[in-house]
Amino acid sequence: MFYQIYPRSFKDHNGDGVGDLRGIIEKLDYLSWLGIDVVWVSPFFKSPMEDFGYDISDYKDVDPLFGTLSDFDKLVSEIHRRGMKIIIDQVYNHTSDKHPWFVESRSSRNNPKSDWYIWKDPKPDGSPPNNWVSLFSGGEPRSMWEWDDNRKQYYLHLFGKEQPDLNWRNPNVKSAIFDSMKFWLERGVDGFRFDAASHYYKDPLFRDALKGPQIKENLFHSARDEYYWDRFSGRPETLLAVEEIKRFMDSYGEKVSVGEISADMGLCLYLLFTIPGRFDIAFNIDFMEKLSLNAKKVRELSENVDTFFGERAWPSYVLGNHDNYRIINRLTDGMNISEYEKKLIAKLAATLLLTMRGTPFIYYGEEIGMEDTDIPYDKIVDPWGKALWPKKGRDVCRTPMQWNNKENAGFSESAPWLPVNLNKAYVNVESEMKDPNSILNFYRSLLKLRKEHVELRRGTMKFQNAPSDIIFYIRKVSEKQVVVLLNFGSTVQCVDLTIYGKVLIGTHKNAGEKIHGAVRLAPFESIVIKVS
Ligand code: NOJ
Repeated sequence: MFYQIYPRSFKDHNGDGVGDLRGIIEKLDYLSWLGIDVVWVSPFFKSPMEDFGYDISDYKDVDPLFGTLSDFDKLVSEIHRRGMKIIIDQVYNHTSDKHPWFVESRSSRNNPKSDWYIWKDPKPDGSPPNNWVSLFSGGEPRSMWEWDDNRKQYYLHLFGKEQPDLNWRNPNVKSAIFDSMKFWLERGVDGFRFDAASHYYKDPLFRDALKGPQIKENLFHSARDEYYWDRFSGRPETLLAVEEIKRFMDSYGEKVSVGEISADMGLCLYLLFTIPGRFDIAFNIDFMEKLSLNAKKVRELSENVDTFFGERAWPSYVLGNHDNYRIINRLTDGMNISEYEKKLIAKLAATLLLTMRGTPFIYYGEEIGMEDTDIPYDKIVDPWGKALWPKKGRDVCRTPMQWNNKENAGFSESAPWLPVNLNKAYVNVESEMKDPNSILNFYRSLLKLRKEHVELRRGTMKFQNAPSDIIFYIRKVSEKQVVVLLNFGSTVQCVDLTIYGKVLIGTHKNAGEKIHGAVRLAPFESIVIKVS
């Protein structure tokens, strides 16, 4: 069970309003109390912070904002002392434009690093080399090419123009990348999350996308991958590089690799990137983006993942991350519901996440039911948030962790870098720890159950027929069986059960309650039953 920490927003130790590594150390007892196995820390490397750390200017150092390398070493040993593991982000599709490699590369056409990035001459009319559109386009299509007046050439950037793409075809670039992995593996990390890993290699001919510069109505208004499928998503050279990465990591013992794989072409790329010998896990963005309160669609979604992966690869499930709106907001968008129902819906999503066959990822704050925070225009810091205004950007899901109901939610002594959600009054760790019915205690119990029942971790997952608002599946290992029933609808439903069992956890029924025959499910009720 993975837990993603966005370090700027988890806990501020030195009182400057931005979270840091020492802050994470302060809160490790909380994560171990919760039952987390693996802590994933998002970028804390040296960075001009144009994309809040996903624009790295030194792969082998900690940004002073977050602390020092010795703080990092302390973090690793404190995580290990508690029996947990740590993975960190590795961002190898691009660097910051302030990285010394790029500074040198752009200085002339013939310096030693001139070919470390992707440089191209303009078309005869001066326009960009092709019609590719940046994955971060904001309100309207923006070219993936940025003109450099010094070299009189364009450079490629899949994301922001401050994030030039590395040229993986240059062997020196590759060895620099492996050298950076080595640096962190030797410092004791247990694995990596590879940012934008399906994009490393680009079409060597740089052919136009199949259709013109079209953008999608998604959060980023990004390029439409279906028109790019063999241009830069999941090319064979990238798969070979992933195999090399895997072999390299294996030489350090048992390490885990999580790939951020483009979800836009469905599950096929996930499987390609995670068959044996490649990444261990593809972070399931597809599931995160498509999850809704439509039980039929969710069943289809999970069943597809499960049958598609089968025994060939190991799936993962995700409700949220630092690039999307908070799960409660996405699930309840446009609904007129009470705080009580909201809480039930959060628990419904948690039960699904933590009882399916696949590695679950929890995004910080999800376990207390954090919601998107309203950010006034003058407080927006996410560059894409600015471009997307008045649509919400990514700041809304990156606000400070709500530790208590005091000033700044116990996150920092001074004003935080992003505003705290006003619901910190009741959505916070301190009060939820005391409340046996809180979302937090529900997560904790589910995590405990997953540890105690092998069928929840390793068992098969078989979906059963049920009324249309209900999701009903059985997790099974030999004789051991657990039944999961989730009511995604707002009306009472009845499910015919032919088994005897006892409730392990539920939103309406008490643990230990006997189950036999028909089960009545209240609106948005979740139940997990141990079959006897
Ligand atoms: C994916 C990361 O999750 C996102 O936050 C980032 O902006 C892009 N990759 C570029 O690194």
